[in-house]
Amino acid sequence: MNPINFENKVALVTGASRGIGKAIATTLATYGAQVAICATNLDTARETAAQIENETQRKVVPFQTNVADFNQAQDLVKNTIEQFGKIDFLVNNAGITRDGLILKMTEEAWDQVINVNLKGVFNVTKATIQHMMKARYGRIVTISSIVGIHGNAGQTNYAAAKAGIIGFTKSLAKELASRNINANVVAPGYVDTDMTAVLKEEARNAMLNAIPLKRTATPQDIANATAFFLSPMADYITGQTLEVDGGLSL
Ligand SMILES: NC(=O)c1ccc[n+]([C@@H]2O[C@H](COP(=O)([O-])OP(=O)(O)OC[C@H]3O[C@@H](n4cnc5c(N)ncnc54)[C@H](OP(=O)(O)O)[C@@H]3O)[C@@H](O)[C@H]2O)c1
Repeated sequence: MNPINFENKVALVTGASRGIGKAIATTLATYGAQVAICATNLDTARETAAQIENETQRKVVPFQTNVADFNQAQDLVKNTIEQFGKIDFLVNNAGITRDGLILKMTEEAWDQVINVNLKGVFNVTKATIQHMMKARYGRIVTISSIVGIHGNAGQTNYAAAKAGIIGFTKSLAKELASRNINANVVAPGYVDTDMTAVLKEEARNAMLNAIPLKRTATPQDIANATAFFLSPMADYITGQTLEVDGGLSL
């Protein structure tokens, strides 16, 4: 049996209109899954869903959701269940940055990042697991960052949220293991997406020099690790964090 065959599986991927989330949604659909995606901008989510459907011939449904909003997260899951009847895989990927040194960081920048990157994970996971618990099956992957493990100057808000996800996932794994629900974390290093496009050339080159594999990650590198955790190859792995960073944090 091909261990990565997601025929008859339904995946919900948050923040999947661009970047890493889009690569994850495309990869899961390529392996046969039907996919629900969400973003705050519905037009982009619609375009992406149509593109993935076209490429993979799998059903991909876009939703407009701000994961930081508890009620919108409830609606996202309700609408996904209405469309597909179940959710086998949840990928908590939606995330933002509002960088700045702590001395200059505003309360708003702190709250926005914690609300999207940490509370958003709670919101969507809480709404999803009741369906997974009834089905006695579920696989959850949450996208953190090596910054949540090692820290980064200028990202106290982001690091706090990304570290929080790791503790959240370990606890979730312990709570849900008896229901055959596994929860793991993928912690990327530097990935080429809109999020990192704002970095100055100098900072990018310094980062590149520090990566033992001498290249930045592609969104596909992160999608591959995510697909592994969702696949039967990872059935005996739960509560773990996998750093996918080309050796940057060694
Ligand atoms: N790029 C990296 O180097 C890197 C490294 C480590 C970890 N990560 C993590 O990987 C994840 C994806 O990052 P990325 O680089 O692919 O980012 P990106 O290119 O900026 O894409 C972010 C995606 O999330 C959506 N999104 C943003 N806020 C949202 C919200 N409140 N509710 C729902 N969707 C929302 C965006 O769509 P809308 O704008 O339409 O909402 C978009 O689809 C994030 O969690 C990020 O922290 C990235």
